[in-house]
Amino acid sequence: MCGIVGYAGNGDGETVLDVLMGGLSDLEYRGYDSAGVAIADEPVAVHKRSGELTALEEALPDADVGGGAAGGAGIGHTRWSTHGPPSDANAHPHTDCEEQVAVVHNGIIENYESLRSSLAARGHEFESDTDTEVVPHLIEAELAASADREAAFRRAVGRLEGSYAVAAVYAADETIYAARHESPLVLGIGEDGHYLASDVPAFIEHTDRVIYLDDGEFARVTPTSVTVTDERGTVLDADVDTIEWDAEDAGKSGYDHYMLKEIHEQPEAIRTCLRGRVEELTGSVTVEELDDLDRPRVVHLVACGTSYHAALYGARLLRERGIPAQVFLASEYDVEAIPVTDGTLVVGVTQSGETADTLSALRAANRARAETLALTNVVGSSAARECDHVMYIRAGPEISVAATKTFASQQVALAMLSSVLADESSHAFVGALRALPDQIQTVLDDSLAPEVAAAYVDADAYFFIGRGYAAPVAVEGALKMKEITYEHAEGFAAGELKHGPLALVTENTPVFSILTGDDHLGKTLGNVKEVEAREAPVIAISDAPDRVARHADFVLEVPETHRWFAPILANVQLQLVAYWTATELGRSIDKPRNLAKSVTVE
Ligand code: M6R
Repeated sequence: MCGIVGYAGNGDGETVLDVLMGGLSDLEYRGYDSAGVAIADEPVAVHKRSGELTALEEALPDADVGGGAAGGAGIGHTRWSTHGPPSDANAHPHTDCEEQVAVVHNGIIENYESLRSSLAARGHEFESDTDTEVVPHLIEAELAASADREAAFRRAVGRLEGSYAVAAVYAADETIYAARHESPLVLGIGEDGHYLASDVPAFIEHTDRVIYLDDGEFARVTPTSVTVTDERGTVLDADVDTIEWDAEDAGKSGYDHYMLKEIHEQPEAIRTCLRGRVEELTGSVTVEELDDLDRPRVVHLVACGTSYHAALYGARLLRERGIPAQVFLASEYDVEAIPVTDGTLVVGVTQSGETADTLSALRAANRARAETLALTNVVGSSAARECDHVMYIRAGPEISVAATKTFASQQVALAMLSSVLADESSHAFVGALRALPDQIQTVLDDSLAPEVAAAYVDADAYFFIGRGYAAPVAVEGALKMKEITYEHAEGFAAGELKHGPLALVTENTPVFSILTGDDHLGKTLGNVKEVEAREAPVIAISDAPDRVARHADFVLEVPETHRWFAPILANVQLQLVAYWTATELGRSIDKPRNLAKSVTVE
């Protein structure tokens, strides 16, 4: 939910502050209602502001703040509020009474109220509404008992209950102390110093060598060393991984928004997802990571938001292949009400691998001794590390809050998963999968979405309908529209329209109708006629323009494909319509209001 960055080093020409500000700008997608930095000067120099990062930039002093040419250490934070509204006081970092230690935190400290009252009773003064502020005061209290800074940090963290990635700097000390429990934290090994962040884009321009911290681990980061320990301070052997994408991949590459860039990256994302996993000659699908997975008796898919829509799509595929599959909103998953039995595979579908609701569902499944599989985009994420199995969707970094390319990659990965679990494939299936990237490119090149967006930008509301495999895509189309335009949008299974929502349909509510695949086209066309009769504009998304054109005001065409994959192509058109409508309305596309990329609280 929040972004943490830390740096200890000589900056190679940049000040510590520059490095931190660069990292925060790369992490803004994790939260952007306030931001702050602390440099380990004497006393600790803290600068923080509510609002976007530009507000902090304007508030910084002109001269180098600490850690100038000589280097030093500092931490930074970009916030998405959980305790207390966005304000300067609630922005991180937070300090102790004497400004000797500054702390940034991501997650929720569940016992902060009791900690705060006992600290207040001992004379500690608090300036914010946040849970985080107890941490520097706990450290201050521990330091009074013993001067060992690392031990004080460890003991203070030991008193926290809840989830946290936490980092601290002390006055006049070039060391960052950090710890992780249920909230991501990764260390970067650089040439001119070392880094720490909630996510790799914060320092990828400086180094691609990383160490992922595990739950319960602590780190000590100095300009010349990185040390990982357990909670007792015993030094651990940490694996150093190499990131296979670079700063260019994480940048906008000339597009106005990350969302548009990521929509256009879908052909490449799907090629990468398929690479080495499908064999056209034999019509087979092999996913190496799943080699030790047997055919499950039943599959539970748990997910949130866009990933939930992908899970709905995947469950249908599994069922069609003869494997009973149920989908649960992760926040509603209840292993007691729906028991996990022998042969149940619980699949967490999560782009980030850090969504708290999904992790909590997966942890419940682990406790119930179900076999668990993470279907995720982020290597080394909590879901990837906590599940028995992991299948990566390989979409590359997705920065825009609105999930686009990861949805397409999830659908493709789920199609392959269904094939592996059911041990069933065909030339037609593999051939259609292989053709998808070029077909998506055709949609991207020829889409009329900008015209459609301009035509209906003043609509009262937007509705989306689809049937069968297209039903989850209709709901996803509506989510994308509401998320980035702030306009009312709803998606329905096409057959449901007449059972209530039709009452909302007027001449000013365009209905986006997914009309693909011969088996359902006729029935959905019937629903379109109900809409036409209410004089609502109809925008058909179809692979059969000749059949649907006379019922539609616009046709957004998609190439013909296997009936399972037509909705993947249709979804690209809907992503573009949402994007261009939000552009017409001048919205903050990559960082929609009230939302964050990675939702790490339940
Ligand atoms: O990282 P996850 O896939 O677990 O995230 C789940 C949802 O928070 C996410 O899909 C959200 O709905 C997107 N912002 C939608 O575009």
